[in-house]
Amino acid sequence: MLQGMFIVSGAASGLGRAAAQAIAEAGGTPIGFDVNPSPDAIEHRIVDVADGEAVIAAVNDVGRRYGGLSGVVANAGIDACGRFSDVPAQAWERVIRVNLLGTAALVRAALPHLAPRQGRVVTVASTLGLRALSDATAYCASKFGVVGFTRALSAELGDSIGVTLLIPGGMQTAFFDDRDEKYKPASDARLNDPAHVAKAIVFALSQPPGCDVRELLICPSTETSWP
Ligand code: NAI
Repeated sequence: MLQGMFIVSGAASGLGRAAAQAIAEAGGTPIGFDVNPSPDAIEHRIVDVADGEAVIAAVNDVGRRYGGLSGVVANAGIDACGRFSDVPAQAWERVIRVNLLGTAALVRAALPHLAPRQGRVVTVASTLGLRALSDATAYCASKFGVVGFTRALSAELGDSIGVTLLIPGGMQTAFFDDRDEKYKPASDARLNDPAHVAKAIVFALSQPPGCDVRELLICPSTETSWP
């Protein structure tokens, strides 16, 4: 069972939405941070995680209002597919700002509110945080960054705050909707239901004090991008 408040970034869709639902089912109270409103009846804030000041203000507001945080799921993520020289610099850098710097900003702002409760952090990378692929330089740079950031953070925080690195394989979400057809999963690709992956997030958040699930790699049984 979970107790207390859990910030979930990217909670308006896909894995973040499923994670918020799973946290609520497990007894916790999710608060969505997203650039879009949540379609579900959960408390949410319109926050762009790439806007460091906005993240600090929103996290402090939630932390103070509810007397602390039990967990943060840094899940919001985007992609800008294409060859390195073809992706406009602004779009390329936005991927780093959202996926990597947004993750760090959210976790940094949350730490003071997590510490008194020995709260937990879950970051969301990707199998492309372990494996490089052509036409994915921004995404790979950002997700390799999330992997390195999370491993270093768990080494640093020890037993004061639990840190889990979640590495999903392909999931059936809106993530691929806006991209060129050639960058979409093959029509016969079997993708995971994000609800399955959300259960793993709750598992990581539910560990007893002194026990951390450091890393979780969850993919469809037919995953091609790992190993
Ligand atoms: P999605 O596109 O369904 O959901 C992403 C959510 O993040 C959306 O609600 C969007 O509005 C929000 N968001 C985007 N930019 C934001 C920002 N700057 N600030 C706040 N919210 C923002 O995508 P999905 O699949 O649920 O992705 C969740 C995470 O899982 C991402 O980090 C993604 O990189 C990762 N992932 C996804 C995989 C997949 O196959 N769908 C595979 C591996 C990792």
